[in-house]
Amino acid sequence: MSEYDVLVREINGCEQCELSRDRQNAVPGEGSLTAEIMFIGEGPGQQEDRNGRPFVGPAGHLLDEMLAAIGLKRPDVYIANMLKCRPPRNRDPLPSELDSCTPFLDRQIEIVAPSVIVALGRFSFSKFFPGESISRARGRPRRWRDIVVFPMYHPAAALHNPGLKPAIQKDFESLPGLIERVKEAARKAQEPEPAKPAQQLSMFE
Ligand code: URA
Repeated sequence: MSEYDVLVREINGCEQCELSRDRQNAVPGEGSLTAEIMFIGEGPGQQEDRNGRPFVGPAGHLLDEMLAAIGLKRPDVYIANMLKCRPPRNRDPLPSELDSCTPFLDRQIEIVAPSVIVALGRFSFSKFFPGESISRARGRPRRWRDIVVFPMYHPAAALHNPGLKPAIQKDFESLPGLIERVKEAARKAQEPEPAKPAQQLSMFE
């Protein structure tokens, strides 16, 4: 069994917090395990709990629409959540729930090793940059370890407040350019160092 399959099995059997009691299904995440880009949401809603898959309800339809607008499909990316089980009535995650669940997400990040993580919403963003405001940070890439984190509003926020949709659209539109820049930087970092100019070498002769 692969490391990923073991992880999914652990998530599906997890009983570390109260959320496991009322779940129909845990929602580990899905997509390409070699994806350049990983989306991290907050936690499953009703549809996700029913299906065991992330972002398959109304917020997911908006995510699909935004992905399609930049020429991406779900199988091109990896989609996960901070929490793997649905909080009752979609309430905010509790710190203790986030503490129990985050090690699963850390293992997903390690396995997929994306170059870009899109943090959807404040809970996802605060995993990487605790205490900062998503509305100030959104739309600007940030370095976290060797990964670029790109904070955005959560798609569900646009369903409650349609005035936020243009900001989400704009941030999505900047993703292809960001991915290109990140790839280019990685390519450059792989290149052998240019030979030192003869003059400099001569200093040690
Ligand atoms: N909202 C999330 O954050 N994740 C889902 O999977 C669905 C809705």
